[in-house]
This record gives sequence, C-alpha cells and structure tokens, in this order.
Amino acid sequence: MRELFDVHLNEDDHPLGRDGLAAALREADVLVPTLGDQLDAGLLRGAGERLRLLANFGAGVDHLDLSAAKARRIVVTNTPGVLTEDTADMVLALILWTVRRASEGERSLRAGEWDGWKPHGLTGHRVGGKALGIVGMGRIGQAVARRAAACRLSIHYHNRRRLPPEVEAETGATWWADLDAMLGAVDILSINAPHTPATHHLLDARRLGLMRTSAYLVNAARGEIVDEDALAEALEAGRLAGAGLDVFEHEPAVPARLLGLPNLVLLPHMGSATMEGRLAMGDKVIANIRAWVDGIRPPDQVLEGWA
Ligand code: DGY
Repeated sequence: MRELFDVHLNEDDHPLGRDGLAAALREADVLVPTLGDQLDAGLLRGAGERLRLLANFGAGVDHLDLSAAKARRIVVTNTPGVLTEDTADMVLALILWTVRRASEGERSLRAGEWDGWKPHGLTGHRVGGKALGIVGMGRIGQAVARRAAACRLSIHYHNRRRLPPEVEAETGATWWADLDAMLGAVDILSINAPHTPATHHLLDARRLGLMRTSAYLVNAARGEIVDEDALAEALEAGRLAGAGLDVFEHEPAVPARLLGLPNLVLLPHMGSATMEGRLAMGDKVIANIRAWVDGIRPPDQVLEGWA
C-alpha cells in the first residue's frame, strides 16, 4: 500500500471509532474499513466530496450502508473467495468440538478437574452418520459440505436457488426449498448465509423450536442471523443439545447467559484468521484500489442488494 498510494495506516489494529472514521471519511479518496467499522448512513452523509471508494477488508459488507454509499456514488468492494477454505475449516472444527464436547473437556482438564478416564466421562455423540443442514450454500456453505461429506455426514441445504445437479452430486446434497421443513430433519445446523435484512434473526425462537432437542447449531457467519436470547433460552431449557458460535450479534459483547452454559463452544470471530487468508485479503484490497485508480471496474465491486 505504501509503495502504491499516499497512505495513512491505522498501525495498531484498533478500530478508529466513530470520530476517527468521520475524520477519515472527510479526508480520504479511498477508505479501507473492516467489519468492526460501522459505516451507517449518517457517517456516509458526512463523507468528503473526494471520497469515492470503500475498499472493505473482508467479505461481509453488512456493516456498510450500501444504499447510502450508492446515493453518494461511492463504489464499494470486498474480498470474497480468499477466506472460504479457512472459514469452512473452522465450521468443521466447531461441529467436531461441539458434538464431541471437546471444549468442555479442555476446560475441565485446565481447571484440574480431570481425575482419569471413565466409561461415561464426557461422552458426546458420533459425528459420522448424522444429518447436517446448511443454511446458505454459497462458496463457504459448499466448502463446509465437502468437508462434512468426508466425515460421513449426510448433507442437506436451504438456499434461495437450488444448486446445479453436478454440484449437488459432489456431496450428495439434498435441497430444501422450505427452511422450516429442513430444521426438523437435521442433527446439526450450520449457518453460512450473509447477514441481510432477509436473514436478520432468521433463526428466531419459532424456528429454533422446530429443531430436534438433540440437535446442535453452529454459526460462523454473522451473529445477527440467530436471535441470541432465543438461542440461550433453548439451550437453557434443553430444547437444543448445544451450539458452536464464532460470531455474535453485538461483537465483541458475548451475552453472559451464553458464557454460563456448558454445552457451547465459543470463539472470538476467528473463522478467517489465518496469516495466508489475511495476506490474500490484503492483496485483494490492493487489487481493487489499483483497478479503481486505473479507471477499471474493480474485480470485487459489491452491488447494492448483492448480498
Ligand atoms: C468477513 O470477511 O466478513 C469475515 O467475517 C471475517 O472473518
């Protein structure tokens, strides 16, 4: 970035905050936000005349008000594709750790509570043979399906559009047009959809109530897709067996109710956190800015309503 542009870097990795963002929006031609930078309509209205590009460092763009950006004729780009495999790895880890109670085991060992192998010690469930339901069968959903099929899970998915037969055949995936119907038919549910107005609290109390009491929920997409209070209630009441969460509705806040439950694996939004992935995301940001500077349509331009 330094070689190519006159760049002001936020060196210490901390969010700029509203005032810092407002100042950057006033002064820059291009701003590179991350998912912790909420750029709402109010902030974007205050952007300087010269601001023309938001080159997001990340795939999700739900923290950016796309209509407000469009109204100001500000181009928005993101970094899709390069964090697919890393995120899918983490989803698989969440599935394995949740169903096999590995987090509980690790916590008890570190707390000095382990007093030896026992026939009934921390028995979870066998993963192979279970039915996995995937909500959102885009790049990440499909990468999860490939991994899960290798673990002998049967694959079910709900997506607006059915995938081509050859893609379904790769993992033997079954399409469910009706999400509600799929919820009662799976043992593990993985959320892999983007957060949009249509997916906000998609998993609410009613839908969580349609899941089997023996089922697990895994979310490495966006916290806002699951109603956290409803999830906590379902887990507390034993209406769900457990959950693996890498994302939360009001990050970095994690509800105390969830922290207190044993049958949960909780991670601090680290699905894409590999050095390889972060470098590739940076390369994409630079390629997008470079194309825009050269007057070419950036390769990862986000269209309003894209998600
Ligand atoms: C993204 O890029 O939107 C991811 O959530 C980062 O992990």
